[in-house]
Amino acid sequence: MKVGWIGLGHMGMPMVKNLAEAGFDVRVWNRSISKAKESGLPYAETIKQLLGDRDVIITMLFGSQSVEEVYGQIASSGVPLRGKIFIDMTTVHPETARKIAELMIKNGADFLEAPVLGSVIPAREGKLTILVSGDRETYERCMVIFEKLGKNIYYMGDYGKASTMKLINNTVLGSFMAVLSEAFAFGKKAGLEPETVLDILSNGAGKSGILDAKREKLLKEDYSTHFSIALIHKDICYALDLAKEYHFPAFMTTQTLDLLSSARANGLEEKDFSALLEIYKKLANIKEET
Ligand SMILES: NC(=O)c1ccc[n+]([C@@H]2O[C@H](COP(=O)([O-])OP(=O)(O)OC[C@H]3O[C@@H](n4cnc5c(N)ncnc54)[C@H](OP(=O)(O)O)[C@@H]3O)[C@@H](O)[C@H]2O)c1
Repeated sequence: MKVGWIGLGHMGMPMVKNLAEAGFDVRVWNRSISKAKESGLPYAETIKQLLGDRDVIITMLFGSQSVEEVYGQIASSGVPLRGKIFIDMTTVHPETARKIAELMIKNGADFLEAPVLGSVIPAREGKLTILVSGDRETYERCMVIFEKLGKNIYYMGDYGKASTMKLINNTVLGSFMAVLSEAFAFGKKAGLEPETVLDILSNGAGKSGILDAKREKLLKEDYSTHFSIALIHKDICYALDLAKEYHFPAFMTTQTLDLLSSARANGLEEKDFSALLEIYKKLANIKEET
């Protein structure tokens, strides 16, 4: 399978490198072409150029708007799409996934919606969890690709389901990060030793993959980006949109959105979402010597 890859952000770059290392013939494209050049992988200057001889095209973009823009360009590129398989791994609104599926199928292509769970480190290690919606046979044909990117792969059925599950997962992720930041800041304010607070939370009620992943970031206040505030904010907005649709009372998620909005308003949107800690520090007037 010749693979075309669109989107070389924090996730896309390590993911496509795994495919290249596994021996796939890959060619990449990224909006900021410098990232494509720096990837060391064969790259195309335009989307049209990328599509040419590729059998499978994978997109890993920011969210619904970028996905709609890129698939719009793909559909109007003039390149015949019949027989190609498109896989979108971006976290999008389920409605977007259904819309893009319709567009690709109308153009004679196959489409899979395949958002991922796990951040930069699982992406590097090929240990993501992948949720897939779309035609089962196409999914099975693409398993050779999914197996190189992920460890746990779930077939979710109809379009929209994979994205819905991904958003539900991220309500937990966002709210968990919020409550962990709150507890850590609380400990600081109360004069407890920060490392001890995290050790005890790790052995107590805070024991979680997210605390394991963010422990050092919280301790060192190292907000170098793995998963940005802008991305989780986007996901929570989609999730609350869905909740509205289902008349579902998403109390916790609503509060998490307020906290994330406050982080964005305070210029933290490009930082890792562990930077929620900064909002608590500010609100509680926590100085380092406290
Ligand atoms: N980071 C994580 O931990 C994580 C974990 C699970 C899922 N996800 C999801 O995976 C997706 C990618 O995440 P990421 O962390 O890799 O994001 P990112 O670092 O912000 O990268 C976004 C990518 O999308 C491209 N892009 C944005 N808008 C575009 C547009 N209008 N047209 C063309 N390209 C556009 C960017 O190109 P430029 O380089 O030109 O800006 C970049 O390549 C997101 O949907 C995110 O929610 C992320």
